[in-house]
Amino acid sequence: MRTLPVLLDVDTGVDDALALLFAVKHPSIDVRAITCVAGNASLAQVIQNTLRVLDAADAPAIPVAGGAVRPLIEAARSASHVHGEGGLGGLELPSTARLPEPVSAVELMRSTLMASDERITLVALAPQTNLALLLRTHPEVADRIERIVFMGGSASVGNATAVAEFNVWHDPEAAAIVLDSGIPIFMYGLDVFNQVSVEQDAAAALGDGKDPLGRIVGSLLSNRVALSEDATLTYTGLIGDAGAVCALVDPDALVVERRPVRVELAGYGRGQTIVDRRRYSGEDVLHGGIGNWAVVDVALDVDAERYASLFLETLGLSA
Ligand code: BDR
Ligand code: CA
Repeated sequence: MRTLPVLLDVDTGVDDALALLFAVKHPSIDVRAITCVAGNASLAQVIQNTLRVLDAADAPAIPVAGGAVRPLIEAARSASHVHGEGGLGGLELPSTARLPEPVSAVELMRSTLMASDERITLVALAPQTNLALLLRTHPEVADRIERIVFMGGSASVGNATAVAEFNVWHDPEAAAIVLDSGIPIFMYGLDVFNQVSVEQDAAAALGDGKDPLGRIVGSLLSNRVALSEDATLTYTGLIGDAGAVCALVDPDALVVERRPVRVELAGYGRGQTIVDRRRYSGEDVLHGGIGNWAVVDVALDVDAERYASLFLETLGLSA
């Protein structure tokens, strides 16, 4: 029974596509609406990819709406070096008869939240521009949000820069607004994102197989990043954003710590999520204090095989 109502915010995106497939196929997850934002690709491309992925999943008529075409302050910076020009790593899905709603992402999120009898979990798998605009435009929705689960940030290394993860780096001000909203937050960052993958041989076998969904998943999992030999090894096979959706239904596979988190907005560290992992209360209090930090549940480790299996089994596939 679909008992967990969610709103998904995506920038589809190879691994957003995997996350969408998982979310609509999982029997406990009730996807009430999907909002799109510029990130991995342009907004128009993200909307098209999202609608086509829903077709591929044979999903019901879930409302989809487009939102921000760029971050709050900076210009949009696509991640085509990771996700390919079309955003799906070269995978071409058939055109779709599905259409986006004639309202903005902010309005679709607002109306969905306000119409629901129960609180909804907001799952952000992209730069958080739409969420920040929602919270600034309609602050009354905060009470209607059960919690925000976001893929983004890192308690260790970055990917877009040495210290910044792409989603937070793409719109640091938006991430800061969301973190400081007072809404319960769960951070699924690179510390866990980078761990959950399907073996390359298994992904290739799916891609070459007969099952239509398996072929799509295999192709997405086989996306190769052309940065360098190391980067290719790092990204291929990752289920990526889909892991953040696994966290909704199997939280026990994660090691989670409740930690103060802040987004760095300036200088070389712009876009970094600073996670205070000290075991003692901050010495900086003695130095005059540095303001209030959001206290967030941060996923730091994961049973990666368990999530990879959960992902494949939910889609009716096996490695
Ligand atoms: C995040 O950025 C995008 O490339 C992925 O879709 C994921 O949401 C990883 O840093
Ligand atoms: Ca994403």
